[in-house]
Amino acid sequence: SGKLTVQDIQGFKGRRKITMLTAYDYPMAHAIESAGIDMILVGDSVANVVLGLESTKDMTMDQMIYHACAVRRGAPHTFVIGDMPFEAYQKDAARSAGNAARFVHEAGCDAVKLEWFDCALEAAESVIRSGIPVMGHVGLTPQTADKLGGFKVQGKDASAARALIRQALDFEKVGCFAVLLECVPDRVARLVTETLSVPTIGIGAGPSCDGQVLVTHDMLGLFERYKPRFVKAYARMNQDMIKAFEVFKDEVRDGKFPADEHIFKIKEEEFKNIRR
Ligand code: KIV
Ligand code: NA
Repeated sequence: SGKLTVQDIQGFKGRRKITMLTAYDYPMAHAIESAGIDMILVGDSVANVVLGLESTKDMTMDQMIYHACAVRRGAPHTFVIGDMPFEAYQKDAARSAGNAARFVHEAGCDAVKLEWFDCALEAAESVIRSGIPVMGHVGLTPQTADKLGGFKVQGKDASAARALIRQALDFEKVGCFAVLLECVPDRVARLVTETLSVPTIGIGAGPSCDGQVLVTHDMLGLFERYKPRFVKAYARMNQDMIKAFEVFKDEVRDGKFPADEHIFKIKEEEFKNIRR
């Protein structure tokens, strides 16, 4: 099947749910494409779940491009979104379009995502004007979590919820093709979803969103340092890995690995000749 377009994704709103997962490398992207997931996000969450960094703010453009290239090679037929790292647009909104273009031209991404901040509309508008589709991200925005009082649910009181709905509407107004809602009460996410004409993609935002996204390393149980309430573990891969490593260790020590089927042979004749 061919790659989805922005129009396809928008056409799913109100018809069927949209699925999105994160990937940072070739094998993960390949598995996600094989499962028929609609969109892949090359998230700056790679900082936390792959690189062992505390903050996504530390990701650079060059690092994101490196991961996005691997994802594109693994999922050539999937709609791939490059997650704009902090330095790409929040330090200087005027650099947004140039950095978004790198995701498209160097890594083959189909769109970029950027988080709400003071100059988010300016940044989004300049990228959209350059012809690159943008997904806006509101609610818990990890790149500015220090200004939100930490990693907490957003929009819990009426005025905060109103501000959040405003941000989502403003993202739509400047031309974002979809809006991601992170850590938002279910009824607020539902209100946003009913208010916007573009799809909402939720993470910790309840079942009413037009689509759902999870960080793949979280849902696979590959990364278990902390587990937010909104994560469902669909596998326990960290435990599976430890088990496999232990079996390898035991088999090597016990002389069970490598076995006959893993061994290369030389002809008896040739072997004899070695020491002549
Ligand atoms: O970086 C990331 O993984 C995200 C999440 C919202 C999925 O932005
Ligand atoms: Na992100």
